[in-house]
Amino acid sequence: MVSVAILGAAGGIGQPLSLLLKLNTNITKLHLYDIVNVPGVAADISHVATNSEVKSFLSDKQLAEAVTDIDLAIIPAGVPRKPGMTRDDLFKINAGIVKGLVEAIAENSPKAIIAVISNPVNSTVPIAAEVLKAKGVYDPKRLFGVTTLDVVRASRFVRDIRPEVDAATLRVPVIGGHSGTTIVPLLSLASAKLELSSKEIEELTHRIQFGGDEVVAAKNGAGSATLSMAYAGARFADSVIRAMKGETVVEPTFIPLAADPEGAKQIRELGAGQLDYFAVPVELGPQGVKAIVQLDGADKVTDFERKAVSVAAEALSTNINTGVNFAKSA
Ligand code: NAD
Ligand code: LMR
Repeated sequence: MVSVAILGAAGGIGQPLSLLLKLNTNITKLHLYDIVNVPGVAADISHVATNSEVKSFLSDKQLAEAVTDIDLAIIPAGVPRKPGMTRDDLFKINAGIVKGLVEAIAENSPKAIIAVISNPVNSTVPIAAEVLKAKGVYDPKRLFGVTTLDVVRASRFVRDIRPEVDAATLRVPVIGGHSGTTIVPLLSLASAKLELSSKEIEELTHRIQFGGDEVVAAKNGAGSATLSMAYAGARFADSVIRAMKGETVVEPTFIPLAADPEGAKQIRELGAGQLDYFAVPVELGPQGVKAIVQLDGADKVTDFERKAVSVAAEALSTNINTGVNFAKSA
C-alpha cells in the first residue's frame, strides 16, 4: 500500500505527472490536490485501467484531507518562469505556497517523504525544512528537492554530441543545486568513458546548467519545462517508492546534508564546505535517505569542475539563507 499526494496536480507538470504515477503499479492511492481544475483532471485520470484509486481535492478546505495518511507528497505547485526571469524571481509567490503546503503535510502526515519540485528549489527546500522543524516533525532523511531533470538533461545532452552513448543508461552525477551555475555536472565521473575535449566539457556544462532556459525561451511566455519534468518527477517518485519497498536505488537529489553527516564529508571537502544543503547522489532506503553515495574516483574531478563547485557553493549559500530567513520571519 503506497499513498501519494500530488500538490499542484492540475498544472503543467501536475497533470502529466499524475498520469505517469497512475501507471505506477506500486502506488495504491493517488491524491490529486490543486486550487483550480483538479476535479476534471482526477476524473479523467481515474479512468485509466490500473488498480490505484484516484481522489480529487480542491482548494484549502480539502488540503488537510488531501495530505492525510500519505507516504509521499510531491509538490509541483507554484508559478513557472517566463522569458527574462530567473528561478529566484519566483520566490515571492512560491515561497508562501510551499510553506503552506508543507505545514499541512506536517500536521496530517508527519512521517511522509516530501519531494519539492517548486522553484527556486535551492530556497524552497530550506523553507520546507524550517516549517517541519517549527512543527517538531523534521527528519532530514525525508526531505528532497527534485533535481532529476538536471540528471536527465545531462544524459540526453551528452548523447547529442556522442550518438554512440545510450541516453537511458548513461549516468552523470549532477551536484550542487537547481539553478544556473549552482548545477554542477561531473562529466569526469560519468558512468561511461566519454573522451570529451575541454571545449566540449565547457559547452556541455553550460547547456546542462541552463537547459531550463531553452524550454522557457521555446515556450515563449507559456511556462517552463513540464513534460520532461513530469518524466523526471515520475522517475524520482518511482525510485523513492521502490526504495520504500526494500530495493537499493540511487538518485542524485538536493537534500539537507544533516541526513548523513558522515557521508557528507566527501562533498564538503569537494567544495560544499559548511552548506546545510547540496545535491548529491543518494542511496534511498525505506525511510528516505539511507546514505550519501561516495563519488567513485573523486580524485578524478577536474580543476574545471572544482571551480564550478565553488561558484555553485557561493550562490547556494545566498539561496539557502533566503529560504531559511523567509521561513523564520513569516
Ligand atoms: P503551472 O502554473 O502550470 O502549474 C502550477 C499549478 O500549481 C497550477 O495548477 C496552480 O493552480 C497550482 N497552485 C498554485 N498555488 C497552489 C497552492 N497553494 N496549492 C496547490 N496548488 C497550487 O506551473 P508548472 O509548469 O507546473 O510549474 C510548477 C513549478 O515547478 C514552478 O515553480 C516551476 O518553476 C517548477 N519547476 C521545477 C522543476 C525542477 O526541476 N525542480 C522543473 C520544472 C518546473
Ligand atoms: C527547469 O530546469 O526546467 C525548471 O527549473 C524550470 C525553469 O524555470 O527552468
